Parts: sequence; structure tokens; C-alpha cells
Amino acid sequence: MNDKQSLILELKNSQQKIVDLTNTLSDDELTIPYHKGANPPLWEIGHSAFFFELFILNALDNADMYDPSMNPVWDSFNIDHEDRWNPGVIPSKESTLEYINTTYKTILARIEDNELSQQDLYLYKYAIFHQNMHVESLIWSRQTYGYKKMDFNPGENESTPVGTDQPSLGDAEIPAGHYLIGMPADSENFATDDFAFDNEKPRFEAELDSFKISKTLVSNREFLEFIKDGGYEKEELWSWGGKKWLNKEHNFGIPPEKQMLHPQHPVYWKQENGQWLERYFDQWQPINPDYPVMHVSFFEAEAFCNWADRRLPTEYEWEVAALGNKKGQVFKKLPWGNTMDAGKADLDGTYVAHVPVTAYADGESVFGCRQMLGTAWEWTSSQYLPYDGFKIDMYPFMSTLQFGYHKVTKGGSCATSSILTRGTYRQAYLPNRTDVFVGFRTCAK
Ligand SMILES: [Fe+2]
Repeated sequence: MNDKQSLILELKNSQQKIVDLTNTLSDDELTIPYHKGANPPLWEIGHSAFFFELFILNALDNADMYDPSMNPVWDSFNIDHEDRWNPGVIPSKESTLEYINTTYKTILARIEDNELSQQDLYLYKYAIFHQNMHVESLIWSRQTYGYKKMDFNPGENESTPVGTDQPSLGDAEIPAGHYLIGMPADSENFATDDFAFDNEKPRFEAELDSFKISKTLVSNREFLEFIKDGGYEKEELWSWGGKKWLNKEHNFGIPPEKQMLHPQHPVYWKQENGQWLERYFDQWQPINPDYPVMHVSFFEAEAFCNWADRRLPTEYEWEVAALGNKKGQVFKKLPWGNTMDAGKADLDGTYVAHVPVTAYADGESVFGCRQMLGTAWEWTSSQYLPYDGFKIDMYPFMSTLQFGYHKVTKGGSCATSSILTRGTYRQAYLPNRTDVFVGFRTCAK
């Protein structure tokens, strides 16, 4: 995405997804009840257009805003999360779509008609990536609310990627050493090869002891063993925070489910006539034991690890297992190299995590770890903190508001855009989140 043609293509792609995600919901579905992890869909798309306006058209060209009276509404740092649901705050679907389409056309013309400077390229990319982040949240909101799964390419992707005969692949052994973490801070390629968000910078060397990490995500089969063994009932497996979550703070209230007091299983699971079922968007389906366990909080992952006498990886261990970068070698941003190949990972809302944990052999890392990109964001044991030398980027709140309160998740999920994710990418979620597409893998103690 380093020239006009590819920028335009990705802008069109993300715009089309935003419009499709909106137009395939009925008016009733667009009017969603309050949820801590979601946004009203129309707010989400208006806010994404506002980002293009504010950081490109207004900041670079001093252009007037489309409707200045709406600035405080579309600006996520101005409007409180709960206030986005207030009646009359968000315009109608028609006028919101008109706003986003007008902004899109202006940006498209600006790309076509002007020289592409490094600064322009960086800002276009940033705004397109930001739009893709909102595509992801619009997709996970459909799971939250029990809406139909979005099918971006009807008729395609009907055969699921196939796993191996074994249910899991054991541990990869990662040798001790000095490994490179993160992206370069002040690079002359900042807009092209070295594009990164503030929280991934600056790059540094970390010294790690040898460790063993699972080549696969924890599967439903493995998680069921934890449930069957009474994992949710064994207090000793739960940390202080985990116990608090079990008893008080687990209520990431989800309208289609009854709120669980003291959960006994992942949030979208239920048992009926002895069979375990999982709500996948608007469908109750038998649990496939080979698929990854999803929608589990950090605390559930932590309790599972205690039960299995394992532990979560630190974020550095995770990044090393995925990329294994060392000084003096070509730095890899993806487990298989530096060229994104969407066929090597479950990204872009294609299979939406309905893949066996052993699938995608072609996308494995040099150490044999699979699905480190895509499928599920992976919990790490690391608190979300800035790297030494952190500097705030163009979007001042990209990371700063979350430092200290959140856990680092890595890898991107099945709904993350393939143009957006890489092994150095750091996402932050509060440890009680279960609504996003999140799972985990474990390390030997
Ligand atoms: Fe945003």
C-alpha cells in the first residue's frame, strides 16, 4: 500500500466493508442496546469518516469540516461512551451514509489529484488502518449482539482450512538469546516499509531465556477438559483478579445471553441434553473440539494455565516465537516473511475462527508455531506499557489512555484486516473482555 493505486484499492475495500456492514443490518438492528464493548454502528462509521476529515482534509488543507456541529459527536475523545446512545445524538442512517460517502469521495480525489508525499502517504495509511480497526469492531459487535455473520464474499471460502490428524502439535522450543522486538522509531521509511503505531516503537533488543511455547492455540477440546475437571469451581486456580471477575466483574453483559453469575464456561457456550453448543453469531452450533477456544477473558486463560500447570507467554516471548528476529538478519514482520498472504492466516473476516488449531501449516513461524497471525488475539501475561523511548504519534490517544490498565494481546484476529496486522502489533484489552475475538496459547513452566 505504498502507491496511489494500492491506497485507492484499500480505501475502496474498507469503505465498501463499512457500507456493507451497515446496509446489511435492519433499522432495528442498528439501534443496539448499550454494551460496554460496542458502539452504535452509525457512530462507528461516522467517527471513521471524521478521522479522515480531521487528520487529512482539515489538518493538511485547512478544509472546513462537513458539519462542524457534529465534531463533538464523532470525536471519540469528546463524547463519553455511554452518551453515544443518547436519543438524537447520531443522525439518521441516510445522512450518516451521505457523510461518509462524501468524505470518501473527497479523499479519493485528493489521492488521485496530488503528489503523494511521505507525510500524505503516512496519514492516508493511518486513516485507512483506523477504518479497518472499526471494520473489526463492527464484525465482533455482530457476535456480541447475535446478528448474522457478515459474508463479504458470498459463495467463496466455503471449504474450511484443514488441520492435521493430531489434535495439537506440542511445544516449540525457543533457544535463549538476544532478540529484536518492535519497529524502528525514526526511520526514513516510516510511511512505507516501517509503518507502525506508536506503541510498537522504538525497536530494542531483549534477552530471553530459552522457553517452550505451544505450537497451537488452546482448542475447545483442551478447554472442555478444564471445564469437566471443575476448573471454574476450583478457587485455587483463580487469581485475586480472577475471583473478582468470577463473582463481580465478569458481566460483560451480552443481550442474547443471560448474564452468568459465577460463569461455568465461556460466555457463548451452553450445554443442552449433554451436548456443548456455542453461539456463533445468530446460530447455536455444536462445539467443534478442533477449533480454538474463543471469547475467554484473561482470567479464564490464567485459570486454565494454572490447571494445566502451564503459563501465558510474555509479550516478548510471543513476538519471538512468531518472528524470531535477531540483529544482523533481515527483520521479518510476519511469521513467514514480509509479504502478506491472506491464504496463510484466518484474517479479514474470512472464516471467523472456524478453523482447526493445527491448520495453516504454510503460515507457521520458523519455530513451527501456527496461527500466530489471525484467528484470535492472544492473551499475554504482559501489562500494556510503553516501550522505553515511546513518543506519542499523530493520534495522541492511540495508546496512552490504555497504558497500565490493559493486558497486551498479540497477533490480530479473524476479523483483523490483513493490511493492518504484523507480529510487532500490540493490541490492548482489559482482562475482563470476552466480547472480542480473543483466545490464547500457553508456555511450559
Ligand atoms: Fe476510532
